[in-house]
Amino acid sequence: MGMSRSFLVGFIGGLVLAVLIQAQDQSGFISIDCGAPAGVSYTELTRTGINYISDANFIDTGVSRKIVSELKSVYQQQLWDVRSFPEGKRNCYKISITRGSTYLIRTSFLYGNYDGLNTEPQFDIHLGANRWATVIIYNATIYYAKEIIHVPSQDYVQICLVNTGHGIPFISAIELRTLKNDTYVTQFGSLETYNDYERCDLGSNTGGYRYKDDVYDRFWNTCDFDEDWTPVLNASIPADSLEQNDYEPPAIVLSTAVTPANVSVPLVIKWVPQDPTDQFYVYMHFLEIQVLATNQTRQFSITENGKTWFPNLSPTNQSVDTIYSLRAVSGEQIKYSFEMTENSTLPPIISAIEIYRVIDFQQSDTFQGDVDAITAIKSVYGVTRDWQGDPCAPIDYLWDGLNCTYPGNDSPRITTLNLSSSGLSGKIDPSILNLTMLENLDLSNNSLKDEVPDFLSQLQHLKILNLEKNNLSGSIPSTLVEKSKEGSLALSVGQNPYLCESGQCNQKEKEKEKGKDEKSIVTPVVASVGGAVILLVVLVAILWTLKRRKSKAPMVEKDQSQISLQYTDQDDSFLQSKKQIYSYSDVLKITNNFNAILGKGGFGTVYLGYIDDTPVAVKMLSPSSVHGYQQFQAEVKLLMRVHHKCLTSLVGYCNEGNDKCLIYEYMANGNLQEHLTGKRSKTKFFTWEERLRIAVDAALGLEYLQNGCKPPIIHRDVKSTNILLNEHFQAKLSDFGLSKIIPTDGVTHVSTVVAGTPGYLDPEYFITNRLTEKSDVYSFGVVLLEIITSQPVIARKEESIHISEWVSSLIAKGDIEAIVDPRLEGDFDSNSVWKAVEIATACLSPNMNKRPITSVIVIELKESLAMELARTKYSGVETRDSVKTVTMNLNTEFSPQAR
Ligand SMILES: *[C@@H]1O[C@H](CO)[C@@H](O)[C@H](O)[C@H]1NC(C)=O
Ligand SMILES: *[C@@H]1O[C@H](CO)[C@@H](O)[C@H](O)[C@H]1NC(C)=O
Ligand SMILES: *[C@@H]1O[C@H](CO)[C@@H](O)[C@H](O)[C@H]1NC(C)=O
Ligand SMILES: *[C@@H]1O[C@H](CO)[C@@H](O)[C@H](O)[C@H]1NC(C)=O
Ligand SMILES: *[C@@H]1O[C@H](CO)[C@@H](O)[C@H](O)[C@H]1NC(C)=O
Ligand SMILES: *[C@@H]1O[C@H](CO)[C@@H](O)[C@H](O)[C@H]1NC(C)=O
Ligand SMILES: *[C@@H]1O[C@H](CO)[C@@H](O)[C@H](O)[C@H]1NC(C)=O
Ligand SMILES: *[C@@H]1O[C@H](CO)[C@@H](O)[C@H](O)[C@H]1NC(C)=O
Repeated sequence: MGMSRSFLVGFIGGLVLAVLIQAQDQSGFISIDCGAPAGVSYTELTRTGINYISDANFIDTGVSRKIVSELKSVYQQQLWDVRSFPEGKRNCYKISITRGSTYLIRTSFLYGNYDGLNTEPQFDIHLGANRWATVIIYNATIYYAKEIIHVPSQDYVQICLVNTGHGIPFISAIELRTLKNDTYVTQFGSLETYNDYERCDLGSNTGGYRYKDDVYDRFWNTCDFDEDWTPVLNASIPADSLEQNDYEPPAIVLSTAVTPANVSVPLVIKWVPQDPTDQFYVYMHFLEIQVLATNQTRQFSITENGKTWFPNLSPTNQSVDTIYSLRAVSGEQIKYSFEMTENSTLPPIISAIEIYRVIDFQQSDTFQGDVDAITAIKSVYGVTRDWQGDPCAPIDYLWDGLNCTYPGNDSPRITTLNLSSSGLSGKIDPSILNLTMLENLDLSNNSLKDEVPDFLSQLQHLKILNLEKNNLSGSIPSTLVEKSKEGSLALSVGQNPYLCESGQCNQKEKEKEKGKDEKSIVTPVVASVGGAVILLVVLVAILWTLKRRKSKAPMVEKDQSQISLQYTDQDDSFLQSKKQIYSYSDVLKITNNFNAILGKGGFGTVYLGYIDDTPVAVKMLSPSSVHGYQQFQAEVKLLMRVHHKCLTSLVGYCNEGNDKCLIYEYMANGNLQEHLTGKRSKTKFFTWEERLRIAVDAALGLEYLQNGCKPPIIHRDVKSTNILLNEHFQAKLSDFGLSKIIPTDGVTHVSTVVAGTPGYLDPEYFITNRLTEKSDVYSFGVVLLEIITSQPVIARKEESIHISEWVSSLIAKGDIEAIVDPRLEGDFDSNSVWKAVEIATACLSPNMNKRPITSVIVIELKESLAMELARTKYSGVETRDSVKTVTMNLNTEFSPQAR
């Protein structure tokens, strides 16, 4: 289609796949009528033809109730029954799904005075280990829904109703719809329909479409944006001949659209988020529904918060165009403006928009092996405790009798199982063995019988085992006895009348023991409470010390021969180990089970780690960002060869299935932006000289990438958060070459890998669709302005203002003092500042050929630094006139914004 794509949007045109509307079967639908009697299934006939089934197979608790009958004529059948949960804090549905697939999950709530109390409740719903939403029923006769687009990480989802003390939770229906895998992709988090706007069928005054109009059973409604729009409609949009794309908006929704009422003003869609940190993804659908005369054209560009988002769109009559966010957008206000291009004779048009808010579910679900094991234990022993939902999380809902570890972003693991006094009978069940991280097992005071199984010794982390007060018999396995003697296991077996505790065991046991110490006298730890506590304290202390030692020197212990650490001079001391590939278990040790988080980005989370006492930053790439990427290893190997004092060095990486990570030298003083914005420290800010030194270092790093590397590396994401500072505040460029490893879009058919960050991206890119070394120079210019001004790159005032626009307006006024960070209070050489501003200005030239090459930038910045040093050296002396040379022409070149 010859369209360029901006960094923020994906684009799907119908030409890509001329699929006819999918056969409208219900494959990929799970439709559950909550509260319907067990075994019931039916087809909802008034509107949808959807097949619903009873919820009885998905939940054990709750009671089935009916809404008042007057409402039955108003609502579809799946809302006539509810399941309510008068008992238990958290009651959960468990529904099997395909792990890794994209689902639309919708929960529906119609109170309908089912309990005759006429009191509208309020409660929470959880999705697995995370709180999903608060359900507030404002009106008994109105239907409420919570909807989310989510990629489950287990092969089931758990939807829990949680009593928060404001009434009894209930639920009417649960619907899951499988969406195409590559649609609604986010950098992180799941998408919830944004309350005020949801999915908008623009230009329609009826709305209310779902299946079968929509193959994915999305709900489409009318929305009130309070704008002056003229609806456009065409009743004869032929659903079966539309060229659809992966999003498949329904033909009936596309048959209405809006244009601005006044054709000479742009069409604007805007909203004010409840919280300015809310992040949004939008999906816009376009179809030309009028027949254009030959002398008519409709073409428009879309801006997002004032920045070009998608240029030159001309919807066509046959194929559906969908334009969508690749990255989240946030702000005090979110505003999309659709502006006619100069050649257009018709105003912009849009058929539908979907607006979603990001919910970032931070808590991982408990490790599935543990969940399966504890579920098996629950069923084997018929445990009657309120064990529902995720065993370990949220931590407030930890199952009674369990304790867990929560290793950073990883899945929680069960470490304690306390089933003391729980009426257990039968044998000690082998499913316990699958709780592989178990440290503390308490089965005391039950009616367990038969032998103490030998397999308990296979639980490698087990430190405390309490089997007191049961009916166990036989002798204690020697493996357990050994551990107990070594002191690695606190074993309590007292008050089992038939258990042989003291070596006078039967013949069979003696044979078993043959070949071992002839006289291994078993002295299990006696079950005196005081004694046990003291022992425990000692034990924990020992283990703690051991663990500390281990985590401090993980690699040495394992594979010393292959590691050689070289420390060069102090500034450049980084690790150079031959062993640059780490296994996931190494990474666990290095990061001490992902103990400390340094930061978070679109690609995943960065953790603090130690390799032989040397701190490192471990960047765990989120599976979605590297999913299926084959060349990861080859690219990383290449990057590992890049070494320069102004580049953060890559120490190693891991690449085990979905567990991909990059290990960098640790930069103690964070990123440049934190310092400039004062986020890092309110009192300490950089002097002009320090700023110039940082700028020179960053430029040197960039120059090395371009000139010192073969083939040259285009960074593609130069920005102040990618300039890191070490303990001596020396600046290093980071994340170079990452965009090749982690395709930042990865969602569409367009071959160019689009990278970059709003505000830093070369406007020329919109024309050439190509990022070059000069694009990095542009971004560097933006960073330089940040260094000079300490202003945000995009200021959120009434309209968002780019830092370069702001600076150029001040240059036009000749007000250089106002450009510089006021905290410097004039403590700088103004010629030095002028020079830096000139360099930045030149870098920001809209014409990339006029931007300086990096080696020139380095030279110029060094000159600027020399001027400042001259001033501080001769402090008190007037600046020398000789350096007052203006080398670049400011007036003609300064308009870095694409027009
Ligand atoms: C979507 O992804 C999941 C997990 O990778 C896979 O099992 C499923 O088959 C995929 N679905 C489609 C339609 O490709
Ligand atoms: C509840 O909604 C119905 C239907 O919209 C309306 O008639 C009624 O007044 C509402 N009740 C309350 C208490 O707001
Ligand atoms: C349409 O908008 C233009 C520009 O804002 C304005 O000058 C003109 O008066 C408007 N026309 C009408 C009919 O409101
Ligand atoms: C509606 O669309 C159809 C198919 O594109 C076209 O043939 C018809 O002329 C359109 N009607 C109007 C009123 O624009
Ligand atoms: C397009 O052509 C029609 C006649 O074919 C004419 O009436 C109309 O004014 C033209 N419109 C424009 C914008 O040139
Ligand atoms: C507008 O039309 C002129 C003449 O047909 C053409 O040269 C120019 O490229 C067009 N501009 C755009 C943005 O399409
Ligand atoms: C669970 O473990 C944590 C940390 O090991 C500990 O602080 C806490 O007291 C334990 N809770 C219970 C109920 O044992
Ligand atoms: C332990 O887990 C494995 C794999 O999930 C399973 O095959 C096995 O049956 C489980 N063992 C027990 C004793 O439950």
